[in-house]
Amino acid sequence: MKGLVIIGACIGAMGAVYAAAAGQFSSTLSAQKIVDRQEGEDPFTGFRRAHAKGICVAGVFKSNGQLAAFSQASIFEKAETEFVGRFSIGGRNPTAPDLAAGVRSLALDFRMDNGERWRTAMNINPVLAVRDPASFYEQLAATAPDPETGKPSPDRIEAFFADHPESADFREWQSRFTPSSSFATETYHSVNAFLLKGEAGRETGVRWSLVPVAPIAEATLEGQDALQKELFERLDEGPVQFRFLFHVAEAEDDLNDPSQAWPTERQQIEAGIVEIVSAEPQAQGACNGINFDPLILPAGIEPTADPILHARSSAYAVSLRRRALETLLEQTK
Ligand code: HEM
Repeated sequence: MKGLVIIGACIGAMGAVYAAAAGQFSSTLSAQKIVDRQEGEDPFTGFRRAHAKGICVAGVFKSNGQLAAFSQASIFEKAETEFVGRFSIGGRNPTAPDLAAGVRSLALDFRMDNGERWRTAMNINPVLAVRDPASFYEQLAATAPDPETGKPSPDRIEAFFADHPESADFREWQSRFTPSSSFATETYHSVNAFLLKGEAGRETGVRWSLVPVAPIAEATLEGQDALQKELFERLDEGPVQFRFLFHVAEAEDDLNDPSQAWPTERQQIEAGIVEIVSAEPQAQGACNGINFDPLILPAGIEPTADPILHARSSAYAVSLRRRALETLLEQTK
């Protein structure tokens, strides 16, 4: 009887995993519903339903070999790996003014010599305000523009935060964050945690960040595309570099909760330098058709059970299907 209960529990758990992978997170919430809320009443057809405005970049990751003891992924051997990436700002509007955005992001698609790919999409916020897809769905409603004013309602946002005490770390970050004058001088975070798999079954929980090498400079930026313009000008002078830092979890850090910051004294391992050498507009760029699904991982990096991480994967697929179909229909008109 005990055996049957265990088998039943296993089948139930597997069912939940398959349902999440198929984009159904509960009896009432799906990836489609989340993306419906992200795109709003009047979607920008042909564009990403989140982080719609971006710029393609390309470059090389120069690994120093220090992470090879923790992960068997070939990218961490002492070698160089090329990537295509994308800087973006948060939001659904592909022509939004760069400087008004509350979120800046960097996504990378590493192309390993053995044919494997690793995709990571990172944000400037080190944690999220929520820890599960249902709360993320609520947050989308709470932060949506009020139909009367066309702007988000501060009262509604305040009420949402009050109902979600897990947002404390996010709010603390938000209260002290000052945007810099360049995509090149922000720090970008994985937010979700992952598992590194090393030799002899060694397993290490990590989050990662890209930390800028260039110092923050005072600059007066202007125009709708101020950050993109600044990036093109900066790349004319030379590459843009980031240190690739891995933060190692300790037993008390919850790998499945992206809303909680880990203490700053956690071990940090620098895996090498991410160097961006060129940029191009997204419309014709190599990054435009890429789905930066955070579950596209090489052998040696595995997902945690974090429900937000799995929800992201299915939401990105929904967004890609919608924008790819719209682009195709536009081309065949
Ligand atoms: C439940 C939580 C989340 C949902 C539902 C969600 C949803 C989405 C969707 C639908 C897209 C557009 C995908 C495409 O069409 O290619 C997107 C893009 C993106 N998301 Fe998320 N996201 C979530 C959390 C996060 C988190 C935690 C991060 C950062 C750590 C993040 C970073 C990004 C970035 C950087 C992009 C743009 C990727 C690119 O340049 O193509 N998202 N997100």
